Amino acid sequence: MSRPVYVAPSLLAADFLDLARAVEIVNQSEADWLHLDIMDGLFVPNISFGMPIVESVARRCQKPMDVHLMIVQPERYIDIFHQLGVHHLILHYEACTHLHRYVEYIHQLGMQAGVALNPHTPVHVLEDIVYMIDIVLIMSVNPGFGGQAFITHSLRKIHEAKELILKTGSPAKIEVDGGVDLQNAAEILRSGADVLVAGSSVFRTDDPVQAIHALKHAL
Ligand code: DX5
Ligand code: ZN
Repeated sequence: MSRPVYVAPSLLAADFLDLARAVEIVNQSEADWLHLDIMDGLFVPNISFGMPIVESVARRCQKPMDVHLMIVQPERYIDIFHQLGVHHLILHYEACTHLHRYVEYIHQLGMQAGVALNPHTPVHVLEDIVYMIDIVLIMSVNPGFGGQAFITHSLRKIHEAKELILKTGSPAKIEVDGGVDLQNAAEILRSGADVLVAGSSVFRTDDPVQAIHALKHAL
């Protein structure tokens, strides 16, 4: 039996003058979640968009919003994203001093909690938190920009994350973010990924709905 494949298009690659169209594409397509990248110019060398955009997107989006916080001290904004109706809140391991506390708090508010790892951060740092999180996000590029090439070493990290999840009985899904396209999707999924984040390979194509369909059926 084939296992479910989740596709989360990343709004970062959409035309920012036509965000309504991008959200409509996600609504009409086989996309499972909408991935929203929040950058602060400190944790990563880029600034993306903030609360006003998330608020407007939330009014139109019919799919769960998967928010990836690439910001320092992300705990400052957990309440605000909850108020905006976000479903999944993903924090970077590297940005959190009291990750356990923040994950508990995200759960208390009724959201799913994810932890993201930069390319240089080993999977084993999740050993004592994986049992209580819903998403492990493996960054397969250095965070900050869309359109970068997939770092092949990430495949090994996906394998390791899968092993850790099986060993600990964690319910976490493995999400892979950065440089995902139709060429590498099948291998990423075979390595153990459950969720494909795709920015450029969806929104920078002529037919984003078809691109989402192809990723969803890449196996
Ligand atoms: C990068 C972001 C990604 C980005 C992916 O820092 O976390 O979500 O939007 O874009 P692509 O799919 O173009 O690599
Ligand atoms: Zn992301």
